[in-house]
Amino acid sequence: MWKMAIEDAIAKITRNAEKFGDAYPHVGEGKHYTLIDNNDWTNGFWSGLLWMSYEYSGDERLREAARKTTIRFRHRMEQNVVLDHHDIGFLYSLSAKAQWIVERDEAAKELALEAADKMMKRWREPGGFFQAWGPEGDVVEGGRIIIDCLLNLPLLYWASEQTGNPAYQEAAKAQAEKSRRYLVRGDDSSYHTFFFNQQTGEPVGGATHQGFSNGSTWTRGQAWGIYGFALSYRYTGDPLFLETSKRMAIYFLKHLPENGVAYWDFHLPPGQQAYRDSSASAIAAAGLLELLSHLDEQDNQITYLQNGLQHSMEALVRNYSTSEDEEAEGLLKHGSYHVRGGQAPDEYMIWGDYFYLEALLRLERGISGYWYERNRY
Ligand code: GLY
Repeated sequence: MWKMAIEDAIAKITRNAEKFGDAYPHVGEGKHYTLIDNNDWTNGFWSGLLWMSYEYSGDERLREAARKTTIRFRHRMEQNVVLDHHDIGFLYSLSAKAQWIVERDEAAKELALEAADKMMKRWREPGGFFQAWGPEGDVVEGGRIIIDCLLNLPLLYWASEQTGNPAYQEAAKAQAEKSRRYLVRGDDSSYHTFFFNQQTGEPVGGATHQGFSNGSTWTRGQAWGIYGFALSYRYTGDPLFLETSKRMAIYFLKHLPENGVAYWDFHLPPGQQAYRDSSASAIAAAGLLELLSHLDEQDNQITYLQNGLQHSMEALVRNYSTSEDEEAEGLLKHGSYHVRGGQAPDEYMIWGDYFYLEALLRLERGISGYWYERNRY
């Protein structure tokens, strides 16, 4: 089942690569993606999809298309195009760092290290965290961390490994610890974001941005937590991160609707339009694979987690993939970007497609994504 799904996906990506040229798919509805320039937080996912498709197929056209995206990411860095935010980790892990991982290209590695330096500029004292959005000192955004940032941290952990400079790793670990303490609630659900007092660093409180309400659980945020804490465990060996990933995964799986694919928030009151977010389920599946790779065979939750992974992936492949529809440019239907904000409530999401293919390749071929050096662990 996985193999057929992968081959369908790669056939689409190959066709899309020809059609899209230098443009980047972002979100999209009907048959088509909305194409954008390299100026949003999502551009790296297209690079990552091209690198993964090349790795699986060996098709040189895909390698060329993937390499070209790194060139555009170099221009983006030189011209500082929309890089004053924390999503530099998503952008450069899946483009320049991916190229380094696949081809050992030194220039790509240097670019990824430059990106790590740029991300370090978002570190804020006295709070001791990475500011997600907005300029330093911004009245609202200056004190905000968000759970999505956990997937930006691997760029920093990796930079410490590559350079021998521990500063990146220390900051990444401190951010993961702060996220564990403040973004994850006592019942293993999560806040999307959390504020700190910018002058004193004292915690202020949790809030949402893309979830239903401050006290609800945005499902994609919970999925970022599952995957992000498992990756922080890989790099630091801190068992609290592994435990947190596991607890968040159990929460996620326990609160899924029967068909196995998440709604956009776990706490939607009756009467709310219950859009799905297939991208949350794809991220959670990729995160479950990472989590399971660290758990002992004897772990008392292993069967539950393995079954949850199987059920989620089968649901995505059977009922949410576009494999029956040759014309469709997206891989997964029914993702939600920002329902409360009225943005793309039921569309393709390029990050959903990325994590879907990442999970499939790991299941079928043991090829993991581009969050860490494969030969090191
Ligand atoms: N990181 C932004 C999002 O998940 O929508």
